[in-house]
Amino acid sequence: MQIEVAKRLQHTDEYYFSKKLREIDELNKTGEKVINLGIGSPDLPPHLSVIKTLHQYASLPHTHAYQSYKGAPALRQAIADWYKRFYNVRLDPDNNVLPLIGSKEGIVHICMTYLQDGDEALLPNPGYPAYAAAVRLSGAKGIPYVLSAENNWLPDLDALAKSDLSRVKIMWLNYPHMPTGAAAPAAFFDEAVAFAKQYGILLCHDNPYSFILNDRPASLLATEGALDVAVELNSLSKSANMAGWRVGMLVGTEARIGEIMRFKSNMDSGMFLPIQMAAAEALAQGPEWYEQLNDTYRRRREKVCQLLTMLGCVYDRQQVGLFVWAKIPDTYASGYVLSDKLLQASRVFITPGGIFGDGGNRYIRASLCATEAVLEQAHERIANVWGS
Ligand SMILES: Cc1ncc(COP(=O)(O)O)c(C=O)c1O
Repeated sequence: MQIEVAKRLQHTDEYYFSKKLREIDELNKTGEKVINLGIGSPDLPPHLSVIKTLHQYASLPHTHAYQSYKGAPALRQAIADWYKRFYNVRLDPDNNVLPLIGSKEGIVHICMTYLQDGDEALLPNPGYPAYAAAVRLSGAKGIPYVLSAENNWLPDLDALAKSDLSRVKIMWLNYPHMPTGAAAPAAFFDEAVAFAKQYGILLCHDNPYSFILNDRPASLLATEGALDVAVELNSLSKSANMAGWRVGMLVGTEARIGEIMRFKSNMDSGMFLPIQMAAAEALAQGPEWYEQLNDTYRRRREKVCQLLTMLGCVYDRQQVGLFVWAKIPDTYASGYVLSDKLLQASRVFITPGGIFGDGGNRYIRASLCATEAVLEQAHERIANVWGS
């Protein structure tokens, strides 16, 4: 039977990594296993007390029922406490916080709540592809804004202000920025809030990387006036090593949370309570948790940088987050060409920057989610082909 997919899916392809992982699986059947430095999926476990909490709550007889649509009070309180402790943002756990099944679903919820045919949304190029996909699914039009190394990967708000913003309803922002690893100075957040106010645009800030190799974790909501014009997504995937658990959060005004709940509560029926209680435990960890995590990532980053240097790439040492974003040598037509050559010749996969938008065409992105031993093995394989 032929059945046509809905119009909203006609320009939405399968997610790049979903296809690429299938290709890697096929390659794995033919010999030496591919070393995958493509995806930012933490390989380390969460804190032991998080696992114990999950186990403890899962062992109880009455924790298996449907849960509240707005999240368990203990998790909402833990999110509010975490925002106060690390970002100095005061949130009311009853009204300003919505736990999510990972922050990725929040991207879709926000777009489906506010956007429709005829609307426009500003999107970072390069940027996380899920923003553009969610905007497309909503029926609205994505308007890419260019990020460049020359501008420290920050949007040029003055240039944007000169464009027609009459149909723009939301602007996606993401600092520390993925894939470039750029952090935003506080002054930029002030400017973004003023811009949003002036043009009546909702800032949607996606903030999953603030604790990774970043000296100053920051929330956009700490900026004066931000709560009026912004919502923020956050995640336990990277900073608590809980990517597979699927726990994220949306924070914003009571009005925004209520509007987004109108969409979300029709999609799912709350998260498994033991996962919520374990997430609350993860958020209660002190700064030492992030320090030990970053010690590991710092050592790995050194190795990843050595490997990228061997490939002739150049990169900024001040980067933040779970990746190293590196400019490829002029001898390659694009990051795709180098990535494919690496996969075929060395069986190492590094993400081509072009999947994040054409602004990333001359870059590749290497993940820090591999042990030092695996990185040394990758180094050896690459040295066999690229070493002199
Ligand atoms: C910029 C950015 N936002 C959001 C996400 C999704 O995170 P989560 O696991 O919370 O859905 C990712 C995951 O890679 C990401 O890189």
